Amino acid sequence: MTEPSAQPPTAQRIEEIARSATAELDSLENLEAVDQWRISYLGRRGTLTTVLRALSSLDVDERRTIGALANEAKNTLEDRLEQRVRHINEAALTRSASQNRLDVTLPGRPSKAGRLHPTTQIVREICSAFVAMGFGVVEGPEVEWEHYNFEMLNIPKGHPARDMWNTLWVDYEDPSGEQAMLLRTHTSPMQARVMESREPPIRVVVPGKCYRYEATDATHEWHFYQVEGLAVGEGITFADLKGTLYEFAHRLFGEERQIRFRCDYFPFVEPGVDMSIDCFACQGQGGGCRICRDSGWIEILGAGMVHPKVLEKVGYDKDRYTGFAFGMGPERIAMLKYGIDDIRHFYANDLRFLRQF
Ligand code: PHE
Repeated sequence: MTEPSAQPPTAQRIEEIARSATAELDSLENLEAVDQWRISYLGRRGTLTTVLRALSSLDVDERRTIGALANEAKNTLEDRLEQRVRHINEAALTRSASQNRLDVTLPGRPSKAGRLHPTTQIVREICSAFVAMGFGVVEGPEVEWEHYNFEMLNIPKGHPARDMWNTLWVDYEDPSGEQAMLLRTHTSPMQARVMESREPPIRVVVPGKCYRYEATDATHEWHFYQVEGLAVGEGITFADLKGTLYEFAHRLFGEERQIRFRCDYFPFVEPGVDMSIDCFACQGQGGGCRICRDSGWIEILGAGMVHPKVLEKVGYDKDRYTGFAFGMGPERIAMLKYGIDDIRHFYANDLRFLRQF
C-alpha cells in the first residue's frame, strides 16, 4: 500500500518536518492539542511515519543515511513530546496551587453557637433572683414515690385534692406493697425530702420537671417545669413570704409592678394563697386586654405557710418552726414575660421559635 501523499524522502524533507513539528509543539498548551500533534506526526498515518515507510523505495546507500536521519528525527520528536507533556502538567499544578492557596486574610466563617433553651433561661433567671436573697438551689427525682408526692404533703389516699394533680403512674411494685411510684406532678415533694434531710434554717429553691396526665392545649402541657421554694426557721411569718415574693416579682417583671394575694387552697399550706401581678400589657387597666383576659391581674404562683402537719411528718417541732413555700411554672412566666401565646411552642423544637431567645 502506497501513501497518496508519499514523497521521496530526502534529508531536507526530514529536516523540514522536524523543524515545523518542533515549533508547533512548543506553542501547544494543553494535553489534547499535544495528542493531536502526536497523531499528526508520529501516528500510524503521521507525516514522519509516512516518510519512514517510504524509505523502502530508496536504494541501499540512501536508505542507510536518510534512514538514520529519519530515525534520529523520530527519537527527537518523541523526546520533545515527553518534555512538553511534563511541562504542561507542571504548569497546571503550579497554577492550581496558586489559585487554591489558603488566603489567611479572608474573614473567618462564624461557627454556629448553640444557646440555652428559653425554659432553661427563665428557670435560671428565677433561681438567681432567689439566690440573690440567700436561697440555695437543689434538685430532686422526677420519678417519685406517692409517699412524697402526696402523703407527706398532707394529701392522703382518697383525698379529693388529689384530683388537682392528674397523675401518671409508673408500673412498678414497691417491695413492701405500700406505695406506688409516679411521675411527680409538682416539685413540692422536694419540700419533704429537703426537710427530712436537714435541720432549719432552710432556704431552698427547687427547679425541675413535672408531669401530669392531661390533654394539651395552649396553656397546658403534660410535662412542664416548676420552681418550688421553701423557707423554714424560727419566727418566719406571712410577712416574710410577702416580702420575698414581692422582691422576686419586681426583679422579674419590673419595680413598678403591683402585687395581689388572694386566698387559695393547697393541702400542704395554711393559709394558702395565689399571687398575681398587675398586668404589664395593659398596666392593670383590664378591659379588652388579651394577656390578662380583662381582669387587669395575672396569676403567677401558688404559695402559703407550711402546714403544721407537714412539719410534723418530717419530724420538725411545729411549735418552734414555721415556714413558707411557693411554687410557680416557669413556662407560664416566660409566656407572660415574652408574650408567648402557646405553651406547646416550648417543646415543639421549632427553631424559628427557639432562635428568638
Ligand atoms: N405544688 C403546687 C402546685 O403544683 C404549687 C404550690 C407550691 C402551692 C408550694 C403552694 C406552695 O400546684
